Amino acid sequence: MKPRVLLTHPLLPEAMDYLASQVDLELATEEMILPRKELLARIADKQGLLCFLTDTIDREVMDRAPNLKIISNCAVGVNNIDLKYAWSRGLLVTNTPDVLTEATADLTLGLILATTRRLVEADRFCREGRFRGWKIDLFLGLELSGKTLGLIGFGRIGRAVARRARAFNLRIIYHDPKRLEASLEKELGVEFRSLDDLLREADIISIHASLTPESHHLISAERLKLMKNTAVLVNVARGPIVDEKALVEALKTGQLWGAGLDVYENEPAIEPELLSLDNVVLLPHIGSATRETRRKMCFMAVENLLRGLRGERPANLVEPADKA
Ligand code: GLV
Repeated sequence: MKPRVLLTHPLLPEAMDYLASQVDLELATEEMILPRKELLARIADKQGLLCFLTDTIDREVMDRAPNLKIISNCAVGVNNIDLKYAWSRGLLVTNTPDVLTEATADLTLGLILATTRRLVEADRFCREGRFRGWKIDLFLGLELSGKTLGLIGFGRIGRAVARRARAFNLRIIYHDPKRLEASLEKELGVEFRSLDDLLREADIISIHASLTPESHHLISAERLKLMKNTAVLVNVARGPIVDEKALVEALKTGQLWGAGLDVYENEPAIEPELLSLDNVVLLPHIGSATRETRRKMCFMAVENLLRGLRGERPANLVEPADKA
């Protein structure tokens, strides 16, 4: 008998077809949000769960599924899963690292450029028929060359951003709970700073940390005050790392020059005032959204799941202390 698997939302078709050929597959919903009642009802008789960052997989969900062996998350971040509880129950949890590093780093640079050079605002200006000719002060932005980029979180994605940033002649400082060996810092051309020093010194601050109880509201109202009023904040990691209401205030009062956001504190809701501010670029959580990367993520999530169901060790097991 094939193992029973719950897929909370569709994968890309070729990966979903492959999965359906290997397991007894139940697709929970075609919608973006799966109502919790549905999740709780459908998980009960399953051995495998393939889910996404929009699904909260907590104790209650796991306790409903006595035969569950593996939770395969189709994302690198696993803050939607109670990892500690999963491990205490002997459940395997996997994610999709590496394959999305380059796409997410590309998007980060895109957001940095879009924010510092006001690309979205300028696009709106053209579409509104307001471009009447070249002008010396039309859409003045911030130059990157010679500025300092502060990376908060220096794992795979942070390092891929650093590689790109060097081509823009940015100086790179980083903060991470784990400091690198001095030789590696030298090789990568980066310098370590305490979080507060990084915030004081950087012209562009980009977040690449995973969301944990420690990183929740890491960028608080107080910390926003440490930043230069010519600084730009970019977040492609997880929304709750930034206090979104405090960010709105900082952007409104000119305490911060601008922000580029791909993630939000209460996704998919966006702080309404952010929508009316011109100095912020807003994206709908598309960091890894290239055709190539999403395909790889889907197949990786399927492969992790199948291995776990077969009793093998999946390649991308996540332990409670791991990070994105
Ligand atoms: C996207 O946000 C991911 O964690 O993969």
